Amino acid sequence: MIIVIDGPAGSGKSSTAKEIANRLNIQFLDSGALYRAVTFHWLNSGKSDIRSFIELLPDVKIASKYKNNTFFVSLDGSDITNQLRQHYVAEHVSEIATQPDVRMFVNNYMRNLVVNGTYIADGRDLGTAVFPDAEIKFFMTASIEERARRRFNEIKETDPGVTLKDVEENIRQRDNKDQNRASDPLKKADDAIEIDTTGKTFEEQISEMISIIENKTKLNH
Ligand code: CDP
Repeated sequence: MIIVIDGPAGSGKSSTAKEIANRLNIQFLDSGALYRAVTFHWLNSGKSDIRSFIELLPDVKIASKYKNNTFFVSLDGSDITNQLRQHYVAEHVSEIATQPDVRMFVNNYMRNLVVNGTYIADGRDLGTAVFPDAEIKFFMTASIEERARRRFNEIKETDPGVTLKDVEENIRQRDNKDQNRASDPLKKADDAIEIDTTGKTFEEQISEMISIIENKTKLNH
């Protein structure tokens, strides 16, 4: 069974999905981390041409696991989790995510993974394209200012050169690319439940979503 949360950058999808996974004792799947992993791999491949990088993708061994509140990702056996939230990865990820072959690679991985177990996953196109039959679909939103502030607070210690303005600009550009790409753009599924988190506390939004899940499924905390 799968529950999905889609929404724009910094809307709180990952932290919400993790908390719900912990309280309901289910697995968490971070699709953005998989796109970031492919992007990180491309940035380190030494290939300036995306096409020649993509040809090698089928040979890449990607693996993930959710443990201790962290979604770990490894590529060809090396753990790259700590590199994935870096600003230079964020600057290139939406460009890589426009590539249909990259989307197919990530989607195949996710569809195989969720065959066993109960998952809550977050992303951009999960309710529309990847898991159209998901048990429950949420679409989370928040104002751009609030989303930039949250992301800035999250990365300011590990990325000290980055300003709030850089983060807001990056989020604006990613939203724009994600909403306007030809291949599976960011879009609310018709049957998704919209959760606007602007001005809501974390606990308020978690309780609201958990009670929706408990009403619609047999899961409970
Ligand atoms: O956490 P944040 O919302 O900033 O981003 P993320 O979930 O880590 O996703 C990073 C990028 O991957 C997004 O800006 C999208 O370009 C891409 N992505 C996507 O295209 N489809 C998904 N299902 C998830 C992420």
